[in-house]
Amino acid sequence: MDPDRPQVVVVGSCMTDLVSLTPRLPKAGETIHGSKFFIGFGGKGANQCIQASRLGACTAMVCKVGDDSFGNNYIENFKKHNVCTDYVYQTGAAATGAASIIVNAEGQNAIVIVAGANLLLNSEDLTKASAAITGARVMVCQLEISPQVSLEALKMAHKSGVRTIFNPAPAIADLDSSFYTHSDIFCCNESEAEILTGVQVRSPSDAGAAGSVLLARGCHLVLITLGGEGCVIVSKEVPEPKHIATSKVTSVDTTGAGDSFIGALAFFIAHYPQLNIEEMVKRSNHIASVSVQAAGTQTSYPYRKDLPQDIFS
Ligand code: RIB
Repeated sequence: MDPDRPQVVVVGSCMTDLVSLTPRLPKAGETIHGSKFFIGFGGKGANQCIQASRLGACTAMVCKVGDDSFGNNYIENFKKHNVCTDYVYQTGAAATGAASIIVNAEGQNAIVIVAGANLLLNSEDLTKASAAITGARVMVCQLEISPQVSLEALKMAHKSGVRTIFNPAPAIADLDSSFYTHSDIFCCNESEAEILTGVQVRSPSDAGAAGSVLLARGCHLVLITLGGEGCVIVSKEVPEPKHIATSKVTSVDTTGAGDSFIGALAFFIAHYPQLNIEEMVKRSNHIASVSVQAAGTQTSYPYRKDLPQDIFS
């Protein structure tokens, strides 16, 4: 195996996160005081890629940013994290994606994204990146780029035997059925599961019910993340839902915790394929729980050196 060949390829979004910390989320029409404002690197796709990279995965990002200072800074951020930037395209036709994020005192958030350049990633861009996508061990995508482009990337990877992780975020109620059949792992959170299935998800047992609905649509394995409650797994091999709990921690900022989980999972699938999925999920839960204990999105993601080393055994 070529050690420099990207093993984890993410086809997805980059956003500049504009974050305000506030005591609570404002109501419609209300102005409230916040305590702090900062700008950081975000976007679900890039977050997943950076987390995998911080754990030691050999990664590549396929994405589009604007020909502007936010886009230039983002490319530097990828390079700093040893992410292959051969397929990071720049366009003058739209600005780099941006996310306005409000985080309350409990660490919960509300997010508005303006996807901008992300929506201009197209089929030709995927074709240029096809050798990387089809040569990877794992390919991850989400829904902050055009859904057709996500689906095309999933099909390209799946047909070549690359393990596919699809994160349907932000969720679309009437998701094309091909997304399910081309997802080896379909990973969403409670609210996304609810939008996709109509099943209210308030508990691990609700998540099991929603997961079974999603599994029946054709994916191989469904993971529903439940924040501090961990995650529920439903698979073709073991259709009985399995709850994997996580240790309780005090949350400072949960933004991007789901992305940290998915990036970690992609890392374990690519680099520790001998582990069973439950073990990978337990370790990924732990990594995501570290990320919620610090402010910011990527700034809160742990590096390999910061984690207990038995996670890598
Ligand atoms: O999942 C968290 C991410 O969602 C943020 O980084 C923000 O950019 C939005 O894409």
